[in-house]
Amino acid sequence: MAHHELRFGVVGLGMGKHHCKAATEAEGCRLVAVCDIDEDRLVPAAKEHNVTAYRSYAEMLRDPEVDAVSVATPSGMHADMAMEAVAAGKHLLVEKPVDIDVAKVRALVQAIQASGVKAAGVFQSRTDPLNRRIKAAIEEGRLGQIIGVHALLPWLRKDSYFQGAHGSWKGTWGMDGGGSLMNQGVHTVDLIQWLAGRVESVFGAFGIYAHDIEAEDKTAAFLRFRNGALGTLSTTTCAIGGLSQSILIHGDKGTIQKSAHLTAWKMADDEDGQEEARLMQYYGAPEKRPEGETVATDPMAVGAKGHTFEMEDLAIAVREGRDPYITIESAMHAVEIVNAVYESGRERREVIID
Ligand SMILES: NC(=O)c1ccc[n+]([C@@H]2O[C@H](COP(=O)([O-])OP(=O)(O)OC[C@H]3O[C@@H](n4cnc5c(N)ncnc54)[C@H](O)[C@@H]3O)[C@@H](O)[C@H]2O)c1
Repeated sequence: MAHHELRFGVVGLGMGKHHCKAATEAEGCRLVAVCDIDEDRLVPAAKEHNVTAYRSYAEMLRDPEVDAVSVATPSGMHADMAMEAVAAGKHLLVEKPVDIDVAKVRALVQAIQASGVKAAGVFQSRTDPLNRRIKAAIEEGRLGQIIGVHALLPWLRKDSYFQGAHGSWKGTWGMDGGGSLMNQGVHTVDLIQWLAGRVESVFGAFGIYAHDIEAEDKTAAFLRFRNGALGTLSTTTCAIGGLSQSILIHGDKGTIQKSAHLTAWKMADDEDGQEEARLMQYYGAPEKRPEGETVATDPMAVGAKGHTFEMEDLAIAVREGRDPYITIESAMHAVEIVNAVYESGRERREVIID
């Protein structure tokens, strides 16, 4: 490649504003263009970053200055837009979920492999230091045989989140692919499958309880993992107060529990609790919680750190010709699991994922 930096164009300027910030901060990356059909978002973003503004995505794809496209449009548009980017020879970062339709994601994975562009999916939980520490412990066999995997996402989204020009696609089957599970919960789904391995089958249920939306604001599911572990998963956007995601994983040699912070690290071979005490210093709750909203109640409270990490990683992947940290293929299983829960809920039977 002629230039050093990976030059990004961001499409979709809601969450995409974080992508702009990340591309500006990320080592080896630069923001060169933004695209949105909403002038009120496009013009200020282009001004703020002093980059080219595109009303048309197709036009941005023709810009030779753009090496990589960051897709942050409504979820049901992701795979189609990513396909166009691949056809234009652009590298890719695609927001979660990589799409709402598994067949489209499969086709995208094939197109990426055939084209040679580098493409990454956003799942910033996989960049979190505590989650990476847990993953390492599981891979080292510290938990032994995994027995149970349990995840809760008791979040709150206000009615206003689902209203207005940028709210009306949320909580719809056609564009959001669901509600609390496909939109908010897909991070949790990805995290547990990344930590504990592939899910073989699910039995799930869902409903609408406290919002005027089409899809769902509450799900509960039972999961069977390929490694034999049993799991449960529940997501909602109607928990008053909005609490942190929590995860419990236990095996025959250890138990790990976390919410916003590490809450338990119990290993059969850590009899004096020294290892747990040491890890709590790094990953336990700080004595004074920072004030203000968290992502449990405010979607824009999500930081851009994970996106910065992923953009830096994509730039290195392009330079070195290796896969990015989170490939599109590895981001696909979460979409399979979510859709299986919905199918199970509709048909009131266990659904096998193949
Ligand atoms: N990683 C995270 O934590 C995180 C957080 C929030 C949202 N997201 C994801 O980001 C995506 C966007 O969510 P959002 O909340 O920002 O939604 P949003 O509706 O606020 O933003 C989407 C933007 O895309 C624009 N857009 C729509 N069609 C377009 C087109 N054809 N060409 C150009 N622009 C177009 C819209 O005008 C809008 O500004 C979703 O897939 C969502 O799941 C991820």
